[in-house]
Amino acid sequence: MLIAYLLLVSTLFYEVLICNAKKDCPKRCECLGTYVDCSKTMLNTFPEGLPQWMETLDLSVNKIDGSLAIDTNSYLFLTTLKLTKNSIATFPIFVNRSTVSNLNLAHNKIEKLEALEHLPNLKNLDMNKNKLTFLDDNTFSQSTHLKILNLNNNLISNLSANCLDTLTHLVELKISHNKLNNLPVGLFKKLKNLETLDLGRNHITVIHGLLFKDLVNLKTIILRQNLIEDLQDGSFYGLIHLQALHLEDNNLSKISKGWLYGLTSLIYLNISYNRIDQIISGWEYCEDLAELDLSYNKLQYIEKSNLENLRKLHKLHLNNNRLSFIEEGSFNNTPMIRTLQMDHNYLSWLIEDAKETFIGLRNLKKLSLANNKILFIKKRSLYWLRQSRGIKFTSK
Ligand SMILES: *[C@@H]1O[C@H](CO)[C@@H](O)[C@H](O)[C@H]1NC(C)=O
Ligand SMILES: *[C@@H]1O[C@H](CO)[C@@H](O)[C@H](O)[C@H]1NC(C)=O
Ligand SMILES: *[C@@H]1O[C@H](CO)[C@@H](O)[C@H](O)[C@H]1NC(C)=O
Ligand SMILES: *[C@@H]1O[C@H](CO)[C@@H](O)[C@H](O)[C@H]1NC(C)=O
Repeated sequence: MLIAYLLLVSTLFYEVLICNAKKDCPKRCECLGTYVDCSKTMLNTFPEGLPQWMETLDLSVNKIDGSLAIDTNSYLFLTTLKLTKNSIATFPIFVNRSTVSNLNLAHNKIEKLEALEHLPNLKNLDMNKNKLTFLDDNTFSQSTHLKILNLNNNLISNLSANCLDTLTHLVELKISHNKLNNLPVGLFKKLKNLETLDLGRNHITVIHGLLFKDLVNLKTIILRQNLIEDLQDGSFYGLIHLQALHLEDNNLSKISKGWLYGLTSLIYLNISYNRIDQIISGWEYCEDLAELDLSYNKLQYIEKSNLENLRKLHKLHLNNNRLSFIEEGSFNNTPMIRTLQMDHNYLSWLIEDAKETFIGLRNLKKLSLANNKILFIKKRSLYWLRQSRGIKFTSK
């Protein structure tokens, strides 16, 4: 009864506050419902006398600089605070515990994540484009509700093996374009709910075996634009729900069983722009693979065993390699391929005997062979390919 009464009173109080919205709206800002928009107003400090009823405050694109203290007690309903594109140098201090759950500080000059303990409800923290250099065991020690964390475009080079341990609810973690080169074993051990991990554009050279083993819900991992030379055995072991693996633009030289082991749900693998010259296979571990991009590598030949166990493959990109030889029967076990890209290679043999080489490709819709060394194609030799299946055939 008492609780109901209190609820009623507080609801009324709230309604009255909202009714006063127009009147309370600070001069340079615009107010709509519980949304207070003070963006692009040339502010250089946190404005005073903001309405108590606001739930979202947008202070982005201003000139707020230095440090910032926010009196939480005055804004009890505030859940979303946008401070994007200012010149804030230290992480804002929330006096007393804040209700804020979405905090956007992207495009500022913050060097250190601190005093996060005053933000116990934080779910979404955007620190894209700041000047963070490290994450240690204390950084997120009280941030147990975080779901989305964006640390892209910082200067992070150093992180401790336990720094992410409290983030058991994290769903999305982005740390691309930093200076990471060594990922400590155990770094991800508590991130059981993580679905997306972006580690692109760093200086990573090695992936240690079992590094990701606890990420049982991960669906996408981005490791593009690193310097990875070595994927140790079991690099991706444990990623039982991983669907997309981005390894493009690294320094990898072979496809092997050792690192494909355990990728049972993989659908998409992009390993273009490496220096792959060997496929020692291992496709038996990822039989659901539907798209494989091996373009811009150094493959010289395809052997029959190279494409075994890829029965669900739809798209195969082999363009921009050094292919001069494809063993007869190589495509016998890839019946679902619809798109086969082989332009920019050294293929000349064809096409006389193409039938034998491509015979397994019963569902082929698009074959590209532009920029090879093919001198002529006898009409007869591609007859079987065209056969009213509407294949788009390009060649130079
Ligand atoms: C706010 O924090 C200060 C010290 O940081 C403390 O003295 C004060 O009691 C707190 N007020 C509330 C309402 O929690
Ligand atoms: C990395 O962090 C640890 C402890 O946090 C520190 O001892 C070490 O000096 C740091 N290394 C670099 C290169 O900053
Ligand atoms: C790639 O690996 C090779 C062989 O280890 C090495 O010589 C080369 O410097 C590496 N390239 C880059 C860009 O790190
Ligand atoms: C693979 O990655 C490269 C480089 O990021 C990109 O250009 C290409 O479109 C990707 N391939 C596929 C099939 O998505």
